[in-house]
Amino acid sequence: MTNLMELVDIHKSFRMGTEEVQVLSGATLSIGAGEFVALIGASGSGKSTLLHIAGALEKPDSGSVLFQGRDILRCSFFERYRFRNQHVGFVFQLYHLLPELNVLENTLLPAMVAAPWYKALIRARPGKKLAVEMLTDMGLGARLRHRPNELSGGERQRAAIARALINRPSLLLADEPTGNLDPRTGQGIIDLLIRRRREQNCGMLLVTHDVNIAQLADRVVRLEDGKITPA
Ligand SMILES: Nc1ncnc2c1ncn2[C@@H]1O[C@H](COP(=O)(O)OP(=O)(O)O)[C@@H](O)[C@H]1O
Ligand SMILES: [Mg+2]
Repeated sequence: MTNLMELVDIHKSFRMGTEEVQVLSGATLSIGAGEFVALIGASGSGKSTLLHIAGALEKPDSGSVLFQGRDILRCSFFERYRFRNQHVGFVFQLYHLLPELNVLENTLLPAMVAAPWYKALIRARPGKKLAVEMLTDMGLGARLRHRPNELSGGERQRAAIARALINRPSLLLADEPTGNLDPRTGQGIIDLLIRRRREQNCGMLLVTHDVNIAQLADRVVRLEDGKITPA
């Protein structure tokens, strides 16, 4: 399997007042193209921090983050921005949908950002057909004009997944996407993620506490004492 992403010897600490907390101390992890890796670890072990570094939302103190062989830490601000927009999809525990936008608009946002400026100017909506198709496939066809606060948790997360996938990323980063849902709804979300991931052939790094969910992955790794070990 070719490597999609390699996190190599990642160190990261946070300063809280006078105290420094070392969160990652030599974490190394690679994800193959199309591979599904589950990441487990105690609360506070640094799972979210590692995901944010993988998605270029945060910079490590040292180490390298290679995406398709390129070090994204050495890229320009604009290139990193493009990497996030075009190659990575994020799914968060608390959805992070924009409350003022409806389901369709939330889903389209990354596509609009990626489009050339003149498309925004003439109000053409790039990706609209794909967004409607995806949302309909996810059971949200009757919810396109609803705002997030008019939706259930499961529906919000499905909209967030559609948003994560709209630009056809090659890497999905999902941070406890079922952490706020009841088990049955959560299982539906996982089934959806796994199916869409397979259809779009993208790699996925999924943080979960649930051993049943972790078992579905191609590989399970654990974050402990700032390092990655096979689980
Ligand atoms: N921006 C930040 N500033 C200070 N400390 C942080 C920050 N982000 C995370 N931390 C600390 O780093 C540790 C790991 O956090 P996190 O990556 O969220 O863990 P997990 O997702 O495994 O629960 C925690 O002790 C947390 O308080
Ligand atoms: Mg976390």
